[in-house]
Amino acid sequence: MQQQVSLEQGDVNQSTLRQAYHSGLDDATKALIAEDAAVFLHQALSTPVMNVLGKTEGPYIYDLQGKAYLDLHGNGVHAAGFSNAYVVQKVIAQLNQSLAFTPRRYTNQPAINLAKKLVEITPHGLDRVLFCPGGSEAIETAVMLAKQITGRWKTLSFWDSYHGTGFQSAAIGGEEHFSTGNGPMVPGAFHVEFPNYYRNPWGLTNTDDVDTEYLRQIKIILQRNPDMAAVIGEPISATPVVPSQNYWLAVKDLCKQYGMLLIFDEIIEGFGRTGKMFASEHFVTPDVLVLGKSLGGGLMPFAGIVTRDEYNVLQNRSIGHFTHEKNPLCSVAGLATIEYIEEHNLVENSALLGDYLLTQLANLQETYPIIGHVAGKGLHIGVDLVRDRQTKERAIQEAETIMYLCMQDGVAFKIIEGNVITMRPALVIDKGHCDTIISTLKKALDKVSIR
Ligand SMILES: Cc1ncc(COP(=O)(O)O)c(C=O)c1O
Repeated sequence: MQQQVSLEQGDVNQSTLRQAYHSGLDDATKALIAEDAAVFLHQALSTPVMNVLGKTEGPYIYDLQGKAYLDLHGNGVHAAGFSNAYVVQKVIAQLNQSLAFTPRRYTNQPAINLAKKLVEITPHGLDRVLFCPGGSEAIETAVMLAKQITGRWKTLSFWDSYHGTGFQSAAIGGEEHFSTGNGPMVPGAFHVEFPNYYRNPWGLTNTDDVDTEYLRQIKIILQRNPDMAAVIGEPISATPVVPSQNYWLAVKDLCKQYGMLLIFDEIIEGFGRTGKMFASEHFVTPDVLVLGKSLGGGLMPFAGIVTRDEYNVLQNRSIGHFTHEKNPLCSVAGLATIEYIEEHNLVENSALLGDYLLTQLANLQETYPIIGHVAGKGLHIGVDLVRDRQTKERAIQEAETIMYLCMQDGVAFKIIEGNVITMRPALVIDKGHCDTIISTLKKALDKVSIR
């Protein structure tokens, strides 16, 4: 059945502009795209694909002709850059030791090393680790832990959030795209709106007033649902909206008051993305921190949770019974990635260049009325494009046009919610890369802008 495709998660692969982009590709690329489309199940966000890659290295992805694109998306795995030579060399060394896998019931030194390193670098009070292959499973594990610890079964999370694929992760996620048509999702998943200081239904702009309204939504639900096990959210939304620290402090207080766990999904925001090693450090320490993506160094799929020692009480149960739970190869990739981030001051780089990019974007905003709002923290930035600054009507068509124009000029990014350009480059970039981002965007804005 043909259904209308939601733009919540990103630009979709069925638009006229996508077809126009494809028509400009060379024959060898077109042939591979067709081959891919003939064998893979079609999905709105992945197949048919945008292009074919021949190489991914540093902050760049390369097409089959060797054209480089500065990748501002990278699916979040590229904190230390793609194919990072230090990480690759550590993984190869591990492979050469003939210890690439450890069956369950055994451990290995690399897994212990990575777990100890995570305990060391995550906020104080998070001392116990559990690994799994991917972010969706890590979310699942975090929610299961909260249910086991509290003896309750309901969850509170945020509309428009993405926490992964699967019944539990998609149930707590707030996007229709990932749940409709699947019948009942995991019951007890309640949602509220993420605080939004630019777009909110009351037209409020004062941070405290906005927080009060959004916290009111949470309190109403908590007062009526004593079975709530956890609040789950990204510290900063994917768009990104950066909440006030007071907002998260208040949510943490509510969690204490109502006996719930606070779970932070830092699958994207962990490992320096927001200018701190973990985004939690801008706000509060959660009870469960969920990590993924860059944890595998962009080489291996790997994820996990770090939580409080006092929750180490499930000796008679298993909530993360995964084949690759203590995979040594993934662990080596994770540890090498963290070492590289630390040794090359990538967290500081993210904070500095994030500020620089935000300033440059604010300058562009003065010239181009289509830029309604710029927000972000570190190298986690969103540019909200509008048709009219008063009504804030989303400039959906224009955003997609700008995306393809930038793509042609070697800067690749993803659109979220139809009109928000997301900028999440590898943390290895320098000021020159930021200037390229700005000049490329400016050139596209000159062609598309509404004046
Ligand atoms: C915030 C967030 N949570 C969870 C996930 C799911 O992770 P995975 O794709 O590794 O299952 C993602 C993936 O995009 C994500 O961005």
